[in-house]
Amino acid sequence: MTTTVISYWGKGGVGKTTLAAATAVMLAGEGARVLLVSSDPLPSLSGILVDVESLLLDVVELGEQVVIELWKNRFGDEVYRAASSFLPVGREFVDYVAGAPGVSDQYMLYYIYEVWRGGRYDYIIWDTQAAGGSVRLLRLEKEVYTHLGDAARLYLRIKTALSRIRRGNVDPLQLLESWRRLAEEILSFLASDNHRLYVVAAADPLNLYVSRKLVRELATFDIRVRRVVLNMLSGPETCPECPFWLESVEEQRRIKAAFEAEFSRSPGLCTVPRLPHSPRSMDDLLKLASILKECGLP
Ligand SMILES: Nc1ncnc2c1ncn2[C@@H]1O[C@H](COP(=O)(O)OP(=O)(O)OP(=O)(O)O)[C@@H](O)[C@H]1O
Ligand SMILES: [Mg+2]
Repeated sequence: MTTTVISYWGKGGVGKTTLAAATAVMLAGEGARVLLVSSDPLPSLSGILVDVESLLLDVVELGEQVVIELWKNRFGDEVYRAASSFLPVGREFVDYVAGAPGVSDQYMLYYIYEVWRGGRYDYIIWDTQAAGGSVRLLRLEKEVYTHLGDAARLYLRIKTALSRIRRGNVDPLQLLESWRRLAEEILSFLASDNHRLYVVAAADPLNLYVSRKLVRELATFDIRVRRVVLNMLSGPETCPECPFWLESVEEQRRIKAAFEAEFSRSPGLCTVPRLPHSPRSMDDLLKLASILKECGLP
């Protein structure tokens, strides 16, 4: 079986981490080999998975510092060799590059891609950071891809001049080309059927706006959204006598109708109720997962 990557995207606080954990717990409970990975710079998975430690499930939280270290391990040498072949730089150059904006972020995609290629898991469940950040990852990957092509062309143009000052026998062109190919592979992997992406939203106007934008933006990367999940819907029963509550339920009902009009046919809409308390227990997570399953997820 090839590994399937399941990712949850959406605005802040809509339940991405919760639904990712629920999906992972369910699949692991069914005997699948599951990796749950968070690319949130402030990961909160361990706050959710307090009651389910006994599950056979691998969990990786890629906080910012962890990612910088992983990036240095994987690319540090290559970057140093390429740069020092024509610039008088020391090893600290690698720390400098690792700290540059976007470099560590972009490593997230590479990490997930590499684990996917490793084939050790049936499922990789990817809990993304809030929408803006995740879309930025995609844009960065595309920029890396295009700019490395430009860099190679530029390098060819100034090659003769550079060869006079070049030290060692590193061919930066080969390195640039290997990085460019990697970025290209990652983007096409994300657009493939091995990646199933879900957009999560809460029932408010801003979430409707963000979900719409997200679905469109992902389409520009040829990434198809499988479903929009409308999470934390409440009913009147919580407080049938409270005008304030009933008003909020009424607003949710109107927004839900707008979500239906927009997403029911394509990519499909799945609604999940608000549980009476923050879902952290095994029972709660399995309950959410079974609701998702009824909508055909994952
Ligand atoms: N169906 C639900 N019923 C009740 N509470 C929920 C439900 N889904 C999520 N929550 C609660 O909503 C809050 C936000 O959820 P979560 O942290 O999963 O969102 P997130 O999208 O990952 O947020 P962030 O963007 O900050 O990473 C949490 O307190 C969580 O327990
Ligand atoms: Mg989260």
